[in-house]
Amino acid sequence: MAGGASGIGAATARRLAEEGARVLIGDLNGDGAEGLAAALRGEGHEAAAHRFDIADDASCRELVAAAVTRFGGVDGLFNVAADLSEGTLGRDTDLVDVPLEVWQRSLEVNLTGYFLTARHAVPAMLAGGGGAIVNTISGLVLHGDPQRVAYGSSKSGVVALSKHIATRWGKQGIRCNIVAPGLVLTESSLEMNPPEYREKVSAMLRSPRFGRPEDIAAAVAFLLSADGEWINGQLLPVNGGTGLR
Ligand SMILES: NC(=O)c1ccc[n+]([C@@H]2O[C@H](COP(=O)([O-])OP(=O)(O)OC[C@H]3O[C@@H](n4cnc5c(N)ncnc54)[C@H](O)[C@@H]3O)[C@@H](O)[C@H]2O)c1
Repeated sequence: MAGGASGIGAATARRLAEEGARVLIGDLNGDGAEGLAAALRGEGHEAAAHRFDIADDASCRELVAAAVTRFGGVDGLFNVAADLSEGTLGRDTDLVDVPLEVWQRSLEVNLTGYFLTARHAVPAMLAGGGGAIVNTISGLVLHGDPQRVAYGSSKSGVVALSKHIATRWGKQGIRCNIVAPGLVLTESSLEMNPPEYREKVSAMLRSPRFGRPEDIAAAVAFLLSADGEWINGQLLPVNGGTGLR
């Protein structure tokens, strides 16, 4: 797990552990990751935590090395971390207005970070005969948005990165798919999306409710599992039908 201390990542770590996976929860929020790993271990699952920074190459290398050391290899990678902070996403406006450092930070964490974790995970997966990667984007990539130019652009880049991995190593048993959540009511999402925004999204929904972290966790667990073995390079929106007319 690259991101997993909270929200969608935490729900996915739990889901994977409950399905019998041995999960290494990597996150910048080391205490949060350790708290979740300890809770999962307390319930009889196999889980460990590793504090890491997805924006740092050496740190991403260490995350993968920690998984290999602890569990003997890497079969799956879920990239879900993103800089959703007030200082970054909170200042991410439009093309003309957005501060350059917000653009750069968004790309560094949300796109280059996924490049780095995957770059270190792929050789480890190849050593074990293959593996599966799921990268997280956002419905914003599908629908466009007049704001959040940096966030949207970073997430769009993840689509090309994922298709590259799928086409480059598919024959060697590596799959890479993309999950595009709609509005999921995590703590970060509630902080960053005020009620007016949620109302706007609600009007675009074709479901009686907003998303839950568990909705995305279920899709990711499927894509990482053997049931998803013939799904490669695909983008799966999990969004309650958002955008359907
Ligand atoms: N919640 C939504 O409505 C929604 C919608 C579309 C897409 N997404 C995407 O889903 C993902 C998870 O979102 P969430 O709502 O669960 O938010 P979240 O804040 O709970 O999860 C993000 C995680 O990334 C970690 N993180 C941040 N910077 C990091 C870094 N430099 N290194 C390592 N870890 C770092 C955070 O500590 C946190 O645990 C994000 O990629 C987000 O863009 C969320």
